[in-house]
Order: sequence, then structure tokens, then C-alpha cells
Amino acid sequence: MTNMLYFGDNLDWLPRFEADSVDLIYLDPPFNSKASYNLLYKSPEGGPAEAQSQAFEDSWTWGPAANLCYHRVLNSGSPAAELLAALRNFMRESDMMAYLTMMTARLIEMHRVLKPTGSLYLHCDSTACHYLKIILDRIFGPRAFRNEIVWKRSHAHNDGKQGARHFGRVTDSNPVLCEVAALYLEPALPALRPALC
Ligand SMILES: C[S@@+](CC[C@H](N)C(=O)[O-])C[C@H]1O[C@@H](n2cnc3c(N)ncnc32)[C@H](O)[C@@H]1O
Repeated sequence: MTNMLYFGDNLDWLPRFEADSVDLIYLDPPFNSKASYNLLYKSPEGGPAEAQSQAFEDSWTWGPAANLCYHRVLNSGSPAAELLAALRNFMRESDMMAYLTMMTARLIEMHRVLKPTGSLYLHCDSTACHYLKIILDRIFGPRAFRNEIVWKRSHAHNDGKQGARHFGRVTDSNPVLCEVAALYLEPALPALRPALC
């Protein structure tokens, strides 16, 4: 599978990969931002063109697909099954629950394919990172967690001002750069250790 691009839903592809076969997983998944993202095409002259194509829809609702995924997790034998059932108890069939169910099914597969010496970087933002952290802890074990990486703005600008009803934000929550990545290393790759730990 060296130098191969697999196009499509990763939940269709991952089960075809052997266990313990992947060194590095980086995922920049949907964040549950409730937005649609379009691809913007440039005109032949380089300017903006009218044409856009919807790249992906980042809003999640509970339905047959979420339900199927939920039962897939429950029958997976993963320790995440119990956690997902507990989350569903209080989140019910909410949009967030649909999102977390979709993520859990895929993270279980990623754990299966990741080598014991491999690393996983999960890029997310504050919308769901606290839920994703407990799901990752359950699947990978809390001891596998190494770092949280926060993208800090390169200048002192923050958006706190008189009358603001929130603390000033000095880390970037721009959805392109995003703000939080959780890093799981099992154990740390020696080559990456000095830079990241
Ligand atoms: C936040 S975007 C990241 C985009 C990319 N990293 C970039 O910076 O342009 C999330 C991406 O995940 C892809 N995606 C969503 N669900 C997926 C799935 N089930 N399997 C594979 N990719 C998926 C979307 O198509 C989208 O491109």
C-alpha cells in the first residue's frame, strides 16, 4: 500500500488494512461545525470563478446511518462501546451524538491498523475536542496520550475588548488552521520525540 491514494469513505477502506500495519495517522476530520464547505475554482485568468462544488457537509444528525454505526461500535468489542452507550444515555439522539458515533467507529479501526510503535494526530477544535479526548482515552488508553498542540497566533492580537462577554482568544480557531490537535503516540517514535515531546 506504499504510495497509494485510497479515495472514499475511510470506514470502507480501513477494514481492508492489516492490523498493526500503519506508522502514522493524521486526521483532519469534520469538526461538527454545522457548515458546508465548498471548493472554490479559479477562472482561467486566475480570478475567482462562479463555479463552486460542495466539498463536504459538516453537519450531523441522528438517522439510520448513525444508528448503524452505533451498533457497529457496540458489537466491536472495543472498550469504547461502553463509553458510547453511556454518552447516548445523556446525549440521546442528538447531532453531537451522531458526530461522535461516526468518529468512534473510525477511531476504533484506526487503533486496529496502527502499529504499536505508531503515532496518531487528531486535529479538532473546541466544538467536540473534549468528547473526542475521552473517546481516544478509551480506545488508545490514557497513557498513550502525549501532547495537546495548540496553534497560537504569531502576534499578540486577541479579540478581548470592553464589553466582550468572553475572555480574549489568543489561539486561532480559524477552521482552516484550527486550534487543537491531540497527539497519541504508542510509544513515541524516536525520530519525532525531540520535536514533539
Ligand atoms: C476539515 S476537512 C479537512 C480538509 C483538508 N485536511 C484540508 O485542509 O483541506 C475534513 C475532510 O474530511 C473528509 N471526510 C469526511 N468524512 C470522511 C470519511 N468518512 N472518510 C474519508 N474522508 C472524509 C471531507 O471530505 C473533508 O475533506
